[in-house]
Amino acid sequence: MNVVVFSSSPNKDGLTAACAAAAVEGALLTGGHAEEVRLNDLQIGLCQACDNGWGTCLKEHECQVEDDFQALHARVCQADAYVLVTPVYWGEMSESAKAFTDRLRRCEATRGRESGLFGKPVIAVAAAGDSGNGVITCLSSMERWIEHVQARKFDLIPVNRWSREYKLVAIRTAAQAMTQEIMP
Ligand SMILES: Cc1cc2nc3c(=O)[nH]c(=O)nc-3n(C[C@H](O)[C@H](O)[C@H](O)COP(=O)(O)O)c2cc1C
Repeated sequence: MNVVVFSSSPNKDGLTAACAAAAVEGALLTGGHAEEVRLNDLQIGLCQACDNGWGTCLKEHECQVEDDFQALHARVCQADAYVLVTPVYWGEMSESAKAFTDRLRRCEATRGRESGLFGKPVIAVAAAGDSGNGVITCLSSMERWIEHVQARKFDLIPVNRWSREYKLVAIRTAAQAMTQEIMP
């Protein structure tokens, strides 16, 4: 059982990092394997909307923009469950989360029920570190992404500076519950 926790902030000790650590901790409580992937440490560029808007993502379900995406794409398809943690930027996902999820969606949404994420549970976490504005719009786009790749919404969790302590407990508990549910 393999859980991938994606985090997408440049800060290694901020709110996003704390949320990702809580998710890893919760997932490990069941005895499975869980690991954080810091998207900001990878080279994952923007979708280039190749050719007439669709490149190899449409029929081959692979992205033709070569960078760290390909290895991570393969890893995603092998995993059993996911936690996606983003800081809220302008009420949206951070740029690194958006670049990765956009390209993954193009490759996997086009596979229908063969999607590498089909039916697999996802916890989405939106961490708003300033005004607290924009968590719902951010989670709403994350929810849509989960639907497009045909994964399963296990939970959608908003976090801000003042809810931090009890939301970290909630993230840990949700990750534990998710992994427990899919444990063979
Ligand atoms: C470009 C940018 C836009 C941001 N927009 C918002 C926002 O819409 N709402 C909010 O509460 N915080 C906003 N923030 C603050 C981030 O959400 C905050 O830095 C993050 O949750 C915590 O950052 P960390 O996880 O990197 O520590 C923004 C930060 C940046 C850099």
